[in-house]
Amino acid sequence: MLICRTGAEIRDFVRQARAAGKTVGLVPTMGYFHEGHLSLMREARKSCAAVVVSLYVNPMQFGPREDLARYPKDFGRDCAMARQVGVDAIFAPSDREMYPDGFSTCVEVTGMTDKLCGLSRPGHFRGVTTVVAKLFNLVTPDQAFFGRKDAQQALVIERMVRDLNMGLEVVTLPTVREEDGLAMSSRNIYLDPGQRREATVLYRSLRAFREAVKRGERDAGRLRGIMVDMIAGARGAGIEYVEILSVPDLQPLEVINGRVVAALAVRFGKTRLIDNTVMEV
Ligand code: PAJ
Repeated sequence: MLICRTGAEIRDFVRQARAAGKTVGLVPTMGYFHEGHLSLMREARKSCAAVVVSLYVNPMQFGPREDLARYPKDFGRDCAMARQVGVDAIFAPSDREMYPDGFSTCVEVTGMTDKLCGLSRPGHFRGVTTVVAKLFNLVTPDQAFFGRKDAQQALVIERMVRDLNMGLEVVTLPTVREEDGLAMSSRNIYLDPGQRREATVLYRSLRAFREAVKRGERDAGRLRGIMVDMIAGARGAGIEYVEILSVPDLQPLEVINGRVVAALAVRFGKTRLIDNTVMEV
């Protein structure tokens, strides 16, 4: 497995792969891998002849009071895990490589980024779309793989690719969960044992949402109420948002219909967890 630190190196790798007639798959990540990341790499391995994983904790998508400085890192372990699932190249650039002096261009998707995570994290999605656009330009993948765990992020990236004619396929894959339902996340290690137990309320409330819809409930306010009441009953849980929106436009709904997402962000102490479920009604 090749480790590339510069744009020139990864471009060179891709040029050689293309010359050999290979299709190229990209899995963008911030590292500290878990099964969620590995599921994306395995899928990329299945559909593409050359698999690139980018590993970069992108400062532009973190707010000034967020966890950039303490974001978990273990490059050695990440490389071993990526090698095991058959990744061909890791692209792990420095901040200087990604944002050299004088950097002043951003990519911004409007409308769908001012809600859900965009509300509490202003500028977050501008950072995501800017870095992902840079990665797409460097790697020029045929397919790029994202997790539905970050449903809004995947929809925003799909919109960017469509709007800017980026000519690649965005593949969105299901959320990988712990046995008790907690969505895997690099941030789960911040939870103390008590918070870790209570954190299953995110998944339980999404299940309650699905069951209520299956029973015939269509009123978004009542469905939201079911989730809010459940989460409020968990010790130490602070709700940031619980929303039911249309997919893919993320518009608010009074009566649910068509493709919808129930999305939530909940804090346990300093740790912010997100989860969602998508349903066809
Ligand atoms: P990161 O949080 O490292 O996630 C990398 C990819 O893994 C994202 O597409 C995310 O949705 C997916 N992922 C995370 N947890 C998952 C789970 N439990 N099941 C399935 N997929 C999961 O998301 C980012 O990094 C960054 O914003 C990035 C896109 C790399 C831009 O910097």
